[in-house]
Amino acid sequence: MTDETTGPETAEEVWDTRYRESGRIWSGEPNAAFVEVVGELPAGRALDLGAGEGGDAVWLARRGWRVTAVDISTVALERAAGHAAEAGVAERIDFLHHDLAVSFPEGSWDLVSAQFLHSMVEMPREEILRRAACAVAPGGVLLVEGHMGFPSWQHDHPQDLHFPTPEEVVESLRLPEGAWEVLRSEEHVRVQKDPEGVPRERTDATVLVRRL
Ligand SMILES: C[S@@+](CC[C@H](N)C(=O)[O-])C[C@H]1O[C@@H](n2cnc3c(N)ncnc32)[C@H](O)[C@@H]1O
Repeated sequence: MTDETTGPETAEEVWDTRYRESGRIWSGEPNAAFVEVVGELPAGRALDLGAGEGGDAVWLARRGWRVTAVDISTVALERAAGHAAEAGVAERIDFLHHDLAVSFPEGSWDLVSAQFLHSMVEMPREEILRRAACAVAPGGVLLVEGHMGFPSWQHDHPQDLHFPTPEEVVESLRLPEGAWEVLRSEEHVRVQKDPEGVPRERTDATVLVRRL
């Protein structure tokens, strides 16, 4: 429970509080690097980890994918379900509440996606991504997109947080030799508007691996 004198305590409370700060936190659009990669794939079963307000999940469902969208925040999940209903794809998306540090959905998927699965609170990201790789069906892919640093306009952030390079992400997956193919492991720059609406550059990391 949130104590008004101390603020939110659990990771779920932190994220629910973040989402309640505004009626919409993210753009509602799917992530650009995600669209570039997934747009090439035939529709199948997708797992979206840290699905947030559902921009990617709704985009997938509109293209015929059957989606499992997971998040720690019930506020985000309810919002995402609302966007799915507005888009007429609610029946193609299962919204599941998991703290991925604690539990992971059962099943296997043709696409497992973790788009900016970062957290303001401690989260075992490497372990979660290894679990994510295990959930990829034979022939399927794991797509991980992450930031390479805080936005240049944000100054009130921890100084010691390490954002892994694409190579570090691949290594941390500990993929068994000969069972996976690394399709992408790269940094790229994209433009994001700062809170004043000024376009600024940010560097992200993309990792795409395929289970053979
Ligand atoms: C930076 S946001 C990215 C949201 C979305 N993927 C996107 O690209 O717009 C990170 C998301 O991960 C979720 N998240 C953070 N920690 C989590 C955890 N332990 N288990 C599940 N989801 C988590 C947050 O609630 C949030 O929706």
